[in-house]
Amino acid sequence: MAGINHEAALSDFHASLRKDSLGPLWTDLPHMITREPDHDVEPYLWKWETIRNHVLRAGELLKPGKDSERRVVYLQNPSLLKKGLIGYGTYTLYAGIQLLQPGEQAPPHIHSQGAIRLIIEGKGAYTSVNGEKINMDPGDLVLTPPYTWHEHGHEGAEPVLWMDGLDVGLVKSFAGSFFQPYDGDSYPLTKPANYSSYQFSAPGLMPVDENAQPGYPSPLLNYRWVDTERALGTMAQGSPDVVKLNPHDGYAVKYVNPTTGGPADARIGSMMQKIPAGIHLQAHRHVHSAIYHVVRGTGYTVIDGKKFEWSQGDFFILPPWTWHEHVNTGDTEAFLFSIDDTHVLQVLGLERQEAYTDNGGYQEVTSIFHP
Ligand SMILES: [Fe+2]
Ligand SMILES: [Fe+2]
Repeated sequence: MAGINHEAALSDFHASLRKDSLGPLWTDLPHMITREPDHDVEPYLWKWETIRNHVLRAGELLKPGKDSERRVVYLQNPSLLKKGLIGYGTYTLYAGIQLLQPGEQAPPHIHSQGAIRLIIEGKGAYTSVNGEKINMDPGDLVLTPPYTWHEHGHEGAEPVLWMDGLDVGLVKSFAGSFFQPYDGDSYPLTKPANYSSYQFSAPGLMPVDENAQPGYPSPLLNYRWVDTERALGTMAQGSPDVVKLNPHDGYAVKYVNPTTGGPADARIGSMMQKIPAGIHLQAHRHVHSAIYHVVRGTGYTVIDGKKFEWSQGDFFILPPWTWHEHVNTGDTEAFLFSIDDTHVLQVLGLERQEAYTDNGGYQEVTSIFHP
C-alpha cells in the first residue's frame, strides 16, 4: 500500500471527506483525545487599584436599573478574548466587580447561571434572594443560586464593591443560558432579614424540618466573614505540629451546602485559604481552574514558572492543569478567596490532582508577570 500513488490517493480521500463534512480519525485523533489537558487559558493578574478606578468611573457614568442591568466591570482573560470568548476568566468561570452607591437598586431578575458574591469593601448594601434580604458585609460570601430571584440594594452611606462569580462559560458550553427580568420594581420580601444565617448560625447544627429535602439551592445563603475567619483561626490552633498546614493550600475551608456537604453553590466551588506570614507553600496542579481574589496580605503565586505578585484586592486566573504555589511574603497572614469548577469535574469523573515533587516541591521562577 506504500508509495506515492497511495499517499496521493489518501490525500484526495481526506479532501473528499472534508467536502462532505466528514473527517479521518486516523489523522485527527490526537487533536481530540490529548495525552494531558490541552487548553488556551493563560494565567493573568489584575491589580486592585486599576480595577477599582474603572469601577468608580463606571459609577460616575452609569446608573444600575437605568443604563445598566448591573454596574459591573468584568475580568477578561486576554488569552480567551483571542478565541472570541467574551467575559471568560477561564473556560467555565467568570468574575466581575460590582459597585452599588447609597440609595441605588439593581433590579430583580433570574438566570440559570449560579452566582456567588464576595464583599470587598463598604457597608450597607444587601442582596435579596427569593424574598429574603441578606446583609453584605466585607468578607461575607452571599449566594444567589441558579433560578432564584435576586436584586441588590443599598441603605448605607458609602460605595460598596463586591466580587461576582458566575459559571458563565460552563453554562454557555451546554447552551443552558436563560435570563428573565422581574415584572415589577422589587421582588416582595417574604422572610425576615438574614433568615437563613440565623437558621444555620452554629457549625454542625441545622434546624429540624420534616419537609426539607437535602439538595439545591442551599438553604444557607450568607456565609459571614466572622465565621470564616473564626473557622480558619480554630484550624490553625487545633493543628498539631505533625499535621501543620495543607502543603498546597495552607489552612483552607470550602463553603458547603449544610444539607448535602457538597459545594454551597451547585456548580461553583468556593474556598478561603489562610497562609501564615512567611510561609512558602508547595506546588501542585489539578484539572479544575480557579479565579482568585486577595482578601488580605501580600505575596506571590508561581504559575508554571511565572511569578504573579499580589497584594490586597488583586485578582488572578489559575488555568486548568498548571503548576502553582502560593507564597506569603508579608509579616501578617494572607487570605485568598477563590472560585473553582471542582465539583462539576468531580461529578463528571474528570478531576485529577498531582503534587510537584522536583526541587522539594518548589518551581524554578523563570519570569515575572507584568499586566
Ligand atoms: Fe444576576
Ligand atoms: Fe491548587
